[in-house]
Amino acid sequence: MDRRFFVKSSMAFGLGISHYSFGSLITGPSRRTYAAQSLNRICLGSCNDQDLSQEFWPKIAQRNPDLWVWLGDNIYADYASPEERQVEYFALQRNRYYESFAETVPMVGIWDDHDFAYDNSDGNYQDKDQSQEAFCNFLRLPSQHILRSSQGIYQSFVYGGAGAMDRRVHLILLDLRYFKEGDHLLGEGQWQWLANELLTSPGDLIMIGSSIAVLSEFTGFGLEGWASYKAERQRLFELLELCRVTPNKCPTH
Ligand SMILES: [Fe+2]
Repeated sequence: MDRRFFVKSSMAFGLGISHYSFGSLITGPSRRTYAAQSLNRICLGSCNDQDLSQEFWPKIAQRNPDLWVWLGDNIYADYASPEERQVEYFALQRNRYYESFAETVPMVGIWDDHDFAYDNSDGNYQDKDQSQEAFCNFLRLPSQHILRSSQGIYQSFVYGGAGAMDRRVHLILLDLRYFKEGDHLLGEGQWQWLANELLTSPGDLIMIGSSIAVLSEFTGFGLEGWASYKAERQRLFELLELCRVTPNKCPTH
């Protein structure tokens, strides 16, 4: 049974998967595939105050990561104007420790509140498109890159698979800021895109990047997490369950 069929079956048997129908799935930004680039070691990080020492970058480089994943708050630029935000990104890019790391390690990533706008900010931020431009510049994305013309920065990648014994890593990166509003985190378009990513995943390993904690129940004191968005988190768990019970059944695998 392929996953798309399972969606329809689940709905028919009333398993509570009521959000999706195959005909309405929206693909969103296209998945980028790097079949020849196998990943043996992935390093990731977040919450980087660009005004503090950046001497840790060579230590991470010593681990020889095949990929670095930014998970948000890559700099802190609360309430900065778009121009000021760009300057703060440049400050990190020009740091000699970070610069040599970024020159040698492939890099992808997402943002969070402090690099997007300000603490706990959401999709009502008026300069969010300028933030996206600065973010794309920070990652040195080409001028024609899809993220430079799309709304929000959710994206996915598939690494590896060129060799017969090669394992594929499917990296799915979520945008928890651009569409966040009220009780909603992802926005309907991103939800449909995520469902499509998971249900058609060619990955032997699927990794999902979220800029706020998914499993932690600890909130309050200004800390954000999926625990504060119960309906959204339940929807995510249902979608992951759907994916888990039908592993590697994708017809494109
Ligand atoms: Fe944050």
